[in-house]
Amino acid sequence: MELLKNKFKQVFGHQNDPQVYFSPGRVNLIGEHIDYNGGYVFPAAINLGTYGVCAKREDLNFRMFSEQESKLGMIEVSLDTLDYNKNHEWANYVKGVIKYLKEHQFDILFGYDLYIDGNLPTASGLSSSASLEVLIVYIANDIYGLNLSRAEMALIAQSVENDYMGMHCGIMDQLSIACGVKDHALLMNTATLEMKPMTASFEGYVWVIMNTKYPRKTTDSKYNERRHECEMALKKIQTKYTVAYLCDLKPENLPNIKELLNDALLYKRVKHVITEQDRTLRAMEMMQNHDPIGFADLLNQSHESLKTDYEVTGLHLDSLCEAARRHGAIGARVTGAGFGGCAIALVESNQAEHMKQEVKKIYLEKTSLHAEFYSVTFEDGVQEVK
Ligand code: GLA
Repeated sequence: MELLKNKFKQVFGHQNDPQVYFSPGRVNLIGEHIDYNGGYVFPAAINLGTYGVCAKREDLNFRMFSEQESKLGMIEVSLDTLDYNKNHEWANYVKGVIKYLKEHQFDILFGYDLYIDGNLPTASGLSSSASLEVLIVYIANDIYGLNLSRAEMALIAQSVENDYMGMHCGIMDQLSIACGVKDHALLMNTATLEMKPMTASFEGYVWVIMNTKYPRKTTDSKYNERRHECEMALKKIQTKYTVAYLCDLKPENLPNIKELLNDALLYKRVKHVITEQDRTLRAMEMMQNHDPIGFADLLNQSHESLKTDYEVTGLHLDSLCEAARRHGAIGARVTGAGFGGCAIALVESNQAEHMKQEVKKIYLEKTSLHAEFYSVTFEDGVQEVK
């Protein structure tokens, strides 16, 4: 806390006592690429995340500095210069939120100085961008007294990601970061935004996050492409079925859907979506029955479906998961959007260290990259740190 405040004072050169906020990242345990198809997903907010240190200004200017992007230096904008600017990189998320609030008639009567630091690897499938966006909405809610609910904050952050940043993501990341509950994951119905906190651990086992360290350059365009494919398939399906979302369909509908779509690629995408929804619901039963083996089996099936039918994994993620399974993990799968980024493994506690060592070696040989591992805890959503 004191370190962060001192950094803030150093960077901005004034003595105002700032407020400190923390916004978590998230890991999704199962239910991938179905939050924009009205499905159930099972994410948790984690202890890695983004800190924001902020103090009000007397004018309408915003000065921002990120420790992770220090090469960009201090970025300064005013309430009138909030349009997207490629050169501002990370700061666009902040500008996008402020622009949204201004355009939606919230009173923004002063600017602020903002220092950002964090320990969440960026572009890695742990939602560093949603963590930052929700943080900025939360700070605005606090210092401008906007009276937003946590779900409203998540929706604003998603809207900025969709319309200002051009990434057509679903609501899972923003909602789990806004509404996380300590020691729980959230069973989230993305059609209604209802959430149920559930225990997400098995006695004698730990979750390990494995980072491919593979940079995901084309993620946004590939992600938008998948979403578009789902929308096209839904339109065709709606000519015969009265459904609002792909996840309203059941695995037994698949043979008829195959005929109706008459398109191998779209069918593969829909098959993933419908079976993933089914796997997520079955995983909840496994969780309630304290059945780690059954849960892990669904993790493995989920990865296979994301690899073969949804095609969002690739050599790096596949290698990590295979190596993990070979060396003690009972289940492993990609988490988040895919195309690089992170995977998760469920592994017996006393096997975890051995697994990390072995996976590290195999992965290095195969890809020349140094995988990283994180043991995380599940945490509450965004908040002020006092
Ligand atoms: C990204 C998106 C989420 C979700 C996942 C895939 O993290 O931001 O909305 O679609 O990918 O499950």
